[in-house]
Amino acid sequence: MRRKLAAGNWKMNGTQDSLDVIAALAEAHATAIVDILVCPPATLIAAAAAGSGPVAIGGQDCHMAESGAHTGDISPLMLRDAGASHVILGHSERRQDHGEDDDMVCAKARAAIKAGLVAVICVGESLAERDAGTTLDVISGQLAGSVPDAADGADGASVVIAYEPIWAIGTGKVPTMAQIGDVHDHIRARLEDRFGPEVGQAIRVLYGGSVKAGNAADIFAVRNVDGALVGGASLTVQDFSPIVTALEAAG
Ligand code: PGA
Repeated sequence: MRRKLAAGNWKMNGTQDSLDVIAALAEAHATAIVDILVCPPATLIAAAAAGSGPVAIGGQDCHMAESGAHTGDISPLMLRDAGASHVILGHSERRQDHGEDDDMVCAKARAAIKAGLVAVICVGESLAERDAGTTLDVISGQLAGSVPDAADGADGASVVIAYEPIWAIGTGKVPTMAQIGDVHDHIRARLEDRFGPEVGQAIRVLYGGSVKAGNAADIFAVRNVDGALVGGASLTVQDFSPIVTALEAAG
């Protein structure tokens, strides 16, 4: 049985005041029966991790090297040192804004796993790819290219996949539940092909893209959806807490 995960991606939002959100979440979900993760900007990780109770704290990106001459970058070891347990990798905003390709995402994921972080690896098609009917091929390619091998430590504990259709991120548009189910089933099948049934069944697959309190229960009822990666609706307790509660109710 996969333990569900409600993950928040704050993107480039949040200052010291926002630590209150994490404290309030921790209090509201002190006895949560699902995993809760918040990925604030890097500037808040250490302070957030110092008192986040049941809320795990993650980074939103990391470099593939442990240290060195990489101005502005943060290594997986530094994230761990600051108290992070997870890191989001290959988000479509990184792939688009920073030219990250599958090879880079895979190298980062290998480094993250080596440092003891859980790699939350994002995949997802563009609207043009969906319209062209190539969604499942695109997802297969991204999984094959971005997810490290078992020999690199990839397993159900170290890897989480987030399916995030690019056209659904921050747009209020959500695929139909059938479309989400098709992609999640496809991801599960590819993971089983590659890692075998045990590990393939153990890796959690999140849905992300315009998840809100109002659609969370429907999304969480879809087969092979093990939780959500939530952007905008993770910035306040009022918005995020009902999503966590919906995930708990989904059992
Ligand atoms: P959104 O973002 O929930 O604001 O659509 C999701 C994400 O990019 O992870």
